Amino acid sequence: MSSDLSMSSNSSTPSTSEKLSFMTIVMHWLTGLSFVGVFIVGMILAEMERGPDKSFLMGYHKSIGALILIVAVLRVAWRLKEGKLPSLGTSPEWQEKIAHAVHGILMLATLIMPISGVVMSAAGGRAVDIFGWEIISKGDKIEWLQEIASTMHHSAVNIIIAVFVLHVVGAIKHHVIDKDKTITRMLGK
Ligand code: HEM
Ligand code: HEM
Repeated sequence: MSSDLSMSSNSSTPSTSEKLSFMTIVMHWLTGLSFVGVFIVGMILAEMERGPDKSFLMGYHKSIGALILIVAVLRVAWRLKEGKLPSLGTSPEWQEKIAHAVHGILMLATLIMPISGVVMSAAGGRAVDIFGWEIISKGDKIEWLQEIASTMHHSAVNIIIAVFVLHVVGAIKHHVIDKDKTITRMLGK
């Protein structure tokens, strides 16, 4: 995959229905896989008792979560610049519309989850850091803001799981039933 990507695509080659751009592919897997990892850790944290193990894991959750925001913002900018993913033309229009909505919700999730996480911590009166590099210093507690951010961070969970399952099932359906290039072009082939 890597040699295929580096030989035939570069960041300025736009996506076509045959081949997706290097930036689209790299940013999809970078945000996608790290998002899934941070999400699973979040769910584990929610079940853990307070203590050193939870604090340790929370540090990773917050730091990697905040880093995802940087890539997610760049990714949204890239998507706006490049426009919609070129259609393969193998699905009826209603399915394409659902897929497009699913992509929009997932993209939004990669912004909303880290933003609400950071706001929840900061408004809770805690400092926010990325692996020790303080990005927001400890301040006053703002209860109403912490409440809103916390509600967002927690109540988005089930929606994200449902949409993510739809996304993956859709991708598998394209590969197994339609036998089209949906998955392979996202792998740079
Ligand atoms: C780990 C399992 C995943 C698989 C197998 C997968 C697969 C795919 C495939 C095949 C496409 C191309 C769809 C098309 O051509 O119409 C795609 C696009 C997309 N995926 Fe995923 N994906 C996964 C995880 C994620 C996650 C976790 C997110 C975000 C939280 C995500 C967000 C998106 C978005 C926004 C697009 C639209 C294209 C873009 O703007 O990059 N995916 N995915
Ligand atoms: C892509 C980024 C992120 C994702 C996908 C994510 C996901 C999650 C999930 C799924 C939970 C469990 C919620 C529940 O079961 O109700 C959680 C909890 C939490 N997250 Fe995040 N999160 C992200 C970023 C952040 C950031 C940047 C911070 C703070 C700087 C943060 C702070 C927290 C806190 C404090 C909890 C509560 C843990 C507990 O209940 O004790 N998250 N997160």
